[in-house]
Amino acid sequence: MDTLTPVLTKNWADDRAWTLEAYTNQGGYGALKKALAMQPGDVIEAVKASGLRGRGGAGFPTGMKWGFLPPDEEGKAPKDRYLVVNADESEPGTCKDIPLMMASPHTLVEGVIISSYAIRAKHAFIYVRGEVLHVIRRLQAAVQEAYAAGHLGKDIHGSGYNLDLIVHAGAGAYICGEETALLDSLEGRRGQPRLRPPFPAVAGLYASPTVINNVESISSVPSILEHGADWFASMGTEKSKGFGIFSLSGHVANPGQYEAPLGITLRKLIELAGGMRNGHELKFWTPGGSSTPLLTSEHLDVPLDFEGVGAVGSMLGTRALQIFDETTCVVRAVLRWTEFYKHESCGKCTPCREGSWWLVQTLSKLEKGQGQESDLEQLLDICDNILGRSFCALGDGATSPISSSIKYFRDEYLAHLEHGGCPFDPAASALHTDAGQLEVGA
Ligand SMILES: Cc1cc2nc3c(=O)[nH]c(=O)nc-3n(C[C@H](O)[C@H](O)[C@H](O)COP(=O)(O)O)c2cc1C
Ligand code: SF4
Repeated sequence: MDTLTPVLTKNWADDRAWTLEAYTNQGGYGALKKALAMQPGDVIEAVKASGLRGRGGAGFPTGMKWGFLPPDEEGKAPKDRYLVVNADESEPGTCKDIPLMMASPHTLVEGVIISSYAIRAKHAFIYVRGEVLHVIRRLQAAVQEAYAAGHLGKDIHGSGYNLDLIVHAGAGAYICGEETALLDSLEGRRGQPRLRPPFPAVAGLYASPTVINNVESISSVPSILEHGADWFASMGTEKSKGFGIFSLSGHVANPGQYEAPLGITLRKLIELAGGMRNGHELKFWTPGGSSTPLLTSEHLDVPLDFEGVGAVGSMLGTRALQIFDETTCVVRAVLRWTEFYKHESCGKCTPCREGSWWLVQTLSKLEKGQGQESDLEQLLDICDNILGRSFCALGDGATSPISSSIKYFRDEYLAHLEHGGCPFDPAASALHTDAGQLEVGA
């Protein structure tokens, strides 16, 4: 297995990589020409054959999702179909789509045109997180360039195919990354998840058949058309094909984006990132953002694919590898994440709206050393009442850091109680040694 497979990140360091000129000079928009010479259904088959699975977290097969759009009804005017790109990227730790759009917006634009052609959509939208103004401007400039070059608009390259692409800025809410809340927001309403069914493939944007895909999923499509489904499927593992961007952040020597085949291990990625900082040791990490259960140094050799991470009780998610060394207080980290979920809870359902509030109350007490041991059971009980009982996956995600940290670091929670505060606070701690090690119960 090749260690790194730069495809999406290949041109990021090129001079003015974001311009149409630079993108075209390295073969950009060649895949579009190939796709336009194919039947739309054959483009879908190619994506199915590649084994590409959604890169936005859940890993649903992309080609299969496209195939769910209902056929036009005989004798009735065909319904409009839409492609919506989820560029909301707001999960703590997740930071791959924004650099991708910043460095190479045309990779996404080309992917949007090919994917829209495949599903026969005449309108496509990129719903981008509102805070990232620099990215919004760069995307808008790329879309303008693509119109001027005839890649967008009417009769694209004489194929008879028309497509308009709209870049839509959200207002900065994590819940608007949930695909049905995103649709409500795009329609001009308050972003809250919708009841399913109907699924977006049947009744999505403006109650019409809609495909929603992540930025990285859609950006992977041109390379599949260019090099072939077999080339893509030759990378990765049996059920998790291809490559993905692994975002390493936190306590490694060289944090950054490492594009590698699915199935690579964290041990290998940390090695590529120059090791842990200053010889510190790995304590815990998230495989795919803060809503995926924490793992520890026991899991350094777990294959980072959908199956491997699932087998150890977590999720591959967005491959947002947040790395924490032994100087980090896990209780404090979990409290910060939980505050985020409480703040971002949209309030539509009771388990998440009320539960996330109680989780913060209980965790803050524990973090200050003011709680009691039974609070840990209370936390787990609240998590149990949120997980699987919330209206959308935000509620489930809020429980992941808590239940996994109690599973692996119960002693550290208890150390807060024994110490009457955070044992990692150097000013107040007798438990904190010179090496930064926690001596639980000392
Ligand atoms: C609270 C919440 C936030 C989400 N945020 C994003 C996001 O920012 N980007 C994204 O692609 N998917 C996000 N998702 C997942 C989407 O609902 C959806 O599964 C995804 O966009 C599908 O694209 P894919 O099949 O290409 O992965 C989020 C889900 C939840 C529950
Ligand atoms: S789980 Fe949370 S974010 Fe999702 S609908 Fe319920 S309140 Fe809203």
